[in-house]
Amino acid sequence: MLVLGLESSCDETAAAVVDGGRRALSDVIASQVEMHARYGGVVPELASRAHVANMVPVVEQALAAAGVGLDDIGGVAVTQGPGLIGALLVAVQMGKGIAYARGLPLIGVHHLEGHLSAVQLEPEPPPMPHLALVVSGGHTSLIRVEPGGVLVELGATRDDAAGEAFDKVAKLLGLGYPGGVVVDRLARTGDPQAVVLPRPMVKKETGYEFSFSGLKTAVLVHVRAHGVPTGQALADLCASFQATVVEALVRKTRQAARDTGLAHVQVCGGVAANSRLRSEMSAAGSEDGFRVYIPPPARCTDNAAMIAAAGAARLARGERSGWDLHADSALPLPGTRAASR
Ligand code: KG4
Ligand code: ZN
Repeated sequence: MLVLGLESSCDETAAAVVDGGRRALSDVIASQVEMHARYGGVVPELASRAHVANMVPVVEQALAAAGVGLDDIGGVAVTQGPGLIGALLVAVQMGKGIAYARGLPLIGVHHLEGHLSAVQLEPEPPPMPHLALVVSGGHTSLIRVEPGGVLVELGATRDDAAGEAFDKVAKLLGLGYPGGVVVDRLARTGDPQAVVLPRPMVKKETGYEFSFSGLKTAVLVHVRAHGVPTGQALADLCASFQATVVEALVRKTRQAARDTGLAHVQVCGGVAANSRLRSEMSAAGSEDGFRVYIPPPARCTDNAAMIAAAGAARLARGERSGWDLHADSALPLPGTRAASR
């Protein structure tokens, strides 16, 4: 069955057609980055308006690129939340409109479940159960992914998400928005040991929890003392900050893999596009004996193919959303069980 996926939770308007929940026939994204960059971050009202303008052309492009028409589509999946409420509304209403007009099943999807499903579009997805590190602009969690859509959260960040830390540090270094990818690029020519920064949550009793706000403050203190660096010093600071974040993410993931005995680990969400996280996690997997699965960078950041993949799995289990499906900016992760520890 072909599922049309729609995503508009933040600053990307996206539509995709996915076959059998496993193969993306098209994956179209209209980015608003340029528009928001001049304000140093996403302006919610501008995002909503751009989604309204972009959604129809993006859906048309997704169908055309897949070489199909609406007659070929068997179901519609939309991001229900969390995200910016005015932005979310656009994909939800578009999805409802198409599904209602065509008599198709509609399914609302949690954005993180979308990120967790991106790996299903790879030739060899991880078996269930597996461990997942979700690292995006809004979330940083270690999750045990079980069959049937059951998610067990083992730990999360106490404050900033990893992507948020990248974005805030980029902003205070004058690198603009969005920051993660710029820090990643500059860090390539920097020395990760040049600036000593506090390693977050190293104590054992912090379990699988993360914290990144102290690290961000440490970079701020460094900048206040030494000024905003340029040239090699800027690359060194980016490399040091990035290495500290990656070290914390990899250390906790290793610990969780060891404690749970899970031998398959996926990394997803925008920060999974980070080159150092990708290489360090793979190295940790080789050393500790777990297999690492990370979608290609374009499937780590927001896209609609992951929403279609997540929706296809729910539709295949016979689930349907009603016509009263509503956008929810604070939607809790469905099927979540707290870890018994
Ligand atoms: O998943 P995503 O596209 O949107 C959310 O659901 O939040 O993640 C966006 C986040 C941003 O914070 C962005 O700076 C970060 O992912 N990001 C990166 C990289 N590419 C995107 N962080 C570090 N290195 C990257 N290469
Ligand atoms: Zn996302």
